[in-house]
Amino acid sequence: MLTDSNKSDTLLCMSKSLLAWYFSIQRPLPWRSTKDPYKIWISEIMLQQTRISTVIDYYAQFLHALPDIPSLAQVDEDTLLKLWQGLGYYNRARNLKRAAEILVKEYHGAFPADFDTIRSLPGIGDYTAGAIASIAFSIPVPAVDGNVMRVLTRLTADGRDISKEQAKSYFRSVISPILPSNCPGEFNQALMELGELVCLPNGAPLCDNCPLKDHCKAFAMGCPESYPVKQRITKRKIEERVVWIIRYKNRVALRKRSSKGLLAGLWEFPNQLSSEESMLSDLGLEVKESPSALTNGNHIFSHLEWHMEAFLVDVKGDVLPDGWVWASSSELKENYALPSAFSFLSQSVDDLLQ
Ligand code: ADE
Repeated sequence: MLTDSNKSDTLLCMSKSLLAWYFSIQRPLPWRSTKDPYKIWISEIMLQQTRISTVIDYYAQFLHALPDIPSLAQVDEDTLLKLWQGLGYYNRARNLKRAAEILVKEYHGAFPADFDTIRSLPGIGDYTAGAIASIAFSIPVPAVDGNVMRVLTRLTADGRDISKEQAKSYFRSVISPILPSNCPGEFNQALMELGELVCLPNGAPLCDNCPLKDHCKAFAMGCPESYPVKQRITKRKIEERVVWIIRYKNRVALRKRSSKGLLAGLWEFPNQLSSEESMLSDLGLEVKESPSALTNGNHIFSHLEWHMEAFLVDVKGDVLPDGWVWASSSELKENYALPSAFSFLSQSVDDLLQ
């Protein structure tokens, strides 16, 4: 096991090689050609739970629709959720709007160039505040997330449990002294880039291509995959659900989810636990014939899995419970934000409504 001072030496030695590598290979990602803190903020929030390839399109559409802080502060929730549809973790979008409202009210609509103020905004934790402050304002603060911890635990053969919150603060304290004052944002992104392109999770890291292999203790020990050490996360709960595609002529019924909890405020096809009594009888709908099986789909949330069976139900009249709506195929695409949990149904529903 290395001592803390040995670890600092390893990290200091590697920082030059890391930056040289980053400057030679960095991907030309859209948020890397700007210093506009608004754009960098949006990119970092989108990147929190989502792959870069997915974020690229959403990022462009979002900035086209909401190009600045005031437009984000003023957008109505349905438009906002529609722009976010498919990215998941919708509280990220709601927090963006809340933060924009605060920036308009308390900071004249400008993004503050100060780590603590950035950190105090809704939806922004230490990692995101560090990323925005260092990339947009060149403030020398670390940005340590799971990717970066993977790189650092391998480099220094550090066996601490990275699922513990103290691990992040420890690695922030290790990185802080070696952050280059002239390019802290590039340094932070170089660590991210290495974690995303070379020092890969789940499967063999590409050590032969790594600019830091000569500094890497886990590589020298022949066991990069033993790091990081992470306590096993608890098993996800599984819910068996029935999804009802209720059709009247060429429209389907949608309902809005509660404003609290999972997928809050999003539209959905009515659905229920399979173990419960069918909800159809309570809805006052006149069903034409018994429901027919359509298709099945699964969706994984962080702590929950939905295993879904969808059924088509044709009804004779267009009366719906309060708050429900009928949507045509084009309205489904353009007006309503449905969570990705239901995307396994997109094609079938589209076909059914033609
Ligand atoms: N992940 C989160 N932010 C990133 C960035 N700016 N560059 C690369 N990967 C990232």
